[in-house]
Amino acid sequence: MTPTSKGFADRLTASTTGHSRISGIGGYRPRRVVPNSEIVDRIDSSDEWIRERSGIIERRWAGEGESVIDMSVFAATPALEMAGISGADVDAVIVATVSWPYQTPAAAPLVAERLGSKGAAFDISAACAGYCHGINLASDMVRTGSAAHVLVVGVERLSDFTSKDDRGTAFIFADGAGAAVVSASDTPGIGPTVWGSDGAQWEVISQTDSWIDVHEKDLGWPHIGMAGQTVFRWAVWGMAPVAQKALDAAGITADQLDAFIPHQANVRIVDAMAKQLKLPADLPIARDIAYTGNTSAASIPLAMERMVRHGEIPSGGLALQIGFGAGLSYAAQVVVIP
Ligand code: COA
Repeated sequence: MTPTSKGFADRLTASTTGHSRISGIGGYRPRRVVPNSEIVDRIDSSDEWIRERSGIIERRWAGEGESVIDMSVFAATPALEMAGISGADVDAVIVATVSWPYQTPAAAPLVAERLGSKGAAFDISAACAGYCHGINLASDMVRTGSAAHVLVVGVERLSDFTSKDDRGTAFIFADGAGAAVVSASDTPGIGPTVWGSDGAQWEVISQTDSWIDVHEKDLGWPHIGMAGQTVFRWAVWGMAPVAQKALDAAGITADQLDAFIPHQANVRIVDAMAKQLKLPADLPIARDIAYTGNTSAASIPLAMERMVRHGEIPSGGLALQIGFGAGLSYAAQVVVIP
């Protein structure tokens, strides 16, 4: 080994020994509350059917002054406050979203700018699994020394990409933003991530047409379509084993958890996963979907923010979180609750 490569090896070894944790969490729910009664006529449905099949009672749709950027900043502000840092301290901003309406540039640089950060800034597109992907990236960035504080935002304005006449999605998708700050830590705070994808099922949740087809064939505004039953079966049978692997990777068992915070896809999926994982009956389980709908990348941080704010889960306790959706893609990890 040359002296140069020894220095390189020493430096890398020294910089990969750190830990990471979530130091702050925040959320933003749009002002406009949309009850099931506002949706049912156009899809020939009923309040009872939607509650029974999805657990959703109402959701939020964003309006003026609530763009993807606005909501990201509104969610990030309390997260930074809780972490005890300002925007200028943020070394990187990762925005997980599928509803930022520009092909390029990404939303993240604008979010960073509004918060006063000159750090790295980029978006990731992993749909409902995007936030947990972001937490994994942020954790690795902090642990390897390329950032001391990373802001991870999950944000969606899905109402812009949902057909109000589609029976399979109009009642499910909603808007909002959740944010977490991932910081360097003396003790481990983010467990190993179990993640993956199944591109063979690429089409089961997807934009109806490519931008090129929309343009060339004059197809009109596209929306997100979903093969509901296929997604339901995949989530119920495929995701509990992934969540179990995340517990195993973290070296804990279900009875050591203080919270279960899965993606808020459908309350029946949440309940089925809890049953398969044999979670203790008194474990706090996120059911934010009832009043928030399915906000894709925003759903996990929004659910955690509500549970923390209401004092339902203890700071310093362990939460299992799992995101899954379009791709198909998924990611799960155990984190210490901020
Ligand atoms: N309102 C009222 N009735 C509806 C309806 C609606 N919005 N959508 C479908 N139905 C009816 C159908 O016509 C059918 O009636 P029939 O039995 O008389 O033929 C019946 O309900 C069952 O239809 P089906 O399409 O099989 O519904 P489902 O039980 O699969 O429920 C979902 C639909 C969307 C709630 C369910 O598939 C689901 O939750 N999928 C997962 C979605 C999800 O979580 N996506 C997010 C992933 S990130």
